[in-house]
Amino acid sequence: MSMRSIFIFIFSFIVLSGCRQAPDLSVERTVERGLITEEAMVVSARVEASRIGRDILKQGGNAFDAMFATEMALAVAYPFAGNLGGGGFMVYRDKDGEIGAIDYREKAPLEAHRDMYLDEADNIIPEKSTYGAMAIGVPGTVAGVFAVHQRFGTLPVQVLLKPVIELAKTGVVVTQKQEKRLNGYKDAFRKVNRDTIPLERDWKSGDTIKYPELANTLERILLNGKDEFYRGETARTLVDFIQDHGGIINMEDLDRYEAKWRDPVVFDYDDLRIISMSPPSSGGVCLAQIMNMIEPFDLDEMGHNSLKAVQVITEAERRAYADRSYYLGDPDFVDIPTEEILSGSYLERRMSDFSFRAATPSESIKHGQVMVLESAETTHYSIVDQFGNAVSVTTTLNGGYGGKLYCPELGFFLNNEMDDFSSKPGVPNMFGLIGAEANSIAPEKRMLSSMTPTIVEKDDALYMVVGTPGGSTIITSVLQTILNVHEFQMGMQEAVDAPRFHHQWLPDLIMFEPGKFPEELKEQLKLKGYDILERENSILGKVNGILVLPGGNMEGGADYRGDDTAVGF
Ligand code: GLY
Repeated sequence: MSMRSIFIFIFSFIVLSGCRQAPDLSVERTVERGLITEEAMVVSARVEASRIGRDILKQGGNAFDAMFATEMALAVAYPFAGNLGGGGFMVYRDKDGEIGAIDYREKAPLEAHRDMYLDEADNIIPEKSTYGAMAIGVPGTVAGVFAVHQRFGTLPVQVLLKPVIELAKTGVVVTQKQEKRLNGYKDAFRKVNRDTIPLERDWKSGDTIKYPELANTLERILLNGKDEFYRGETARTLVDFIQDHGGIINMEDLDRYEAKWRDPVVFDYDDLRIISMSPPSSGGVCLAQIMNMIEPFDLDEMGHNSLKAVQVITEAERRAYADRSYYLGDPDFVDIPTEEILSGSYLERRMSDFSFRAATPSESIKHGQVMVLESAETTHYSIVDQFGNAVSVTTTLNGGYGGKLYCPELGFFLNNEMDDFSSKPGVPNMFGLIGAEANSIAPEKRMLSSMTPTIVEKDDALYMVVGTPGGSTIITSVLQTILNVHEFQMGMQEAVDAPRFHHQWLPDLIMFEPGKFPEELKEQLKLKGYDILERENSILGKVNGILVLPGGNMEGGADYRGDDTAVGF
């Protein structure tokens, strides 16, 4: 096997099998329209979380209240990615059209350092940034929901947390997909944890899993607020647990953690105005670059997933991901030439060597020259309330169940977000993404993300709320969902259901959802020099979106690839 084949194999194995659940390909999709509601909607990875968010709205709460409750409910109902021990990003557009974003991304502990995952010979120590206590970034989720509530919430935290605590106590019914997923992770749970953890039991679909320890943690948070998690009994238990397992997070790390309000990335595409997440997520910048590069092409005339459309999108993605790898990192630590890499002239130059005749090899593409002085698993939910506020939120532990380390006393998993840093510039992480100096490790720095919570406006009004998990594939799944609606006139559910593909510069290949694209298309692409990766059971993202329909009703798009569900009224 050549080095390149080995890399492709490892990439496909880790990215496609380790971090995602397998889709049920036997299910024929006939649904083309999602749930339609008149006033409000919540679309998330689990029906229990969507319902809790919806009930908060029904009690008169707004989208920000529902965000708090849905985020916490996902920590109970969807421990695969919902979390107290991770982080995330939210983009919002309020009822008056004001927009903004909050970053509650994890950060590197104070004792972290650039080479902490390298051995004496400068080689990456296998699994140190992906499994167990050394992989943990300082968690941001609890700070995030409290910051959102403090600025925009209208209902007391007690009201928001009560149904979540009730859910943790009464339990969550295991779905077929969850059963399969839990089976797949048993060995990893055993490898990392000293004692048998509750999720390691032989759970079958239809069983109910209760989370009493998590209910206790949430009850303490209900009583003592955010400080419980960052300074109180929960903080002390967490730090003792992490350090006892060889980690370096201390009380000062938790005490100093703050969620940060950020200006989102805003750009136009045809008559759409797109609002997406800014660094330390690469999502918004990368999405803006790709959409700017493809805007001059008539995608609708080329046809959905046609040879030409796949080529144009692939080539724009290739170029944008090359820039991502080089330029992007935590904006509080590195100067990102955002204006330059988003300028029309720069992006026109980037696409100038594209030809429909043949693929541009990625080895011939580096980051672009600009004139400057110079991340498994995750989950996304979208909410629109009855007042017209919209939130788009992506939250994560990074890998499925994070670094698999579960704190039994507190009842939750810890993230392995440190793997989203470049441990060694030039060497790929678990998503195959190659990072550079801009994303190297430093104390209190936030690791680069691909999370792309996005809101779209049309004619100055709310049009779409969209986002997805999927590590490096997040950006391209959000892209295709927006294009499916805008260019190819699909409804929200149809746009979510449509087959997806992905290119990320390196490895130089197009990933296709298996069994969803015609052989002829793939043969034509191969003839033009494109390498294809199609691996059984792989899926690209689990998109959850809401589309405002003409007349004001809204349509939900809940991804059938997971247990995702839209509810509303
Ligand atoms: N951990 C996945 C991401 O942040 O993109």
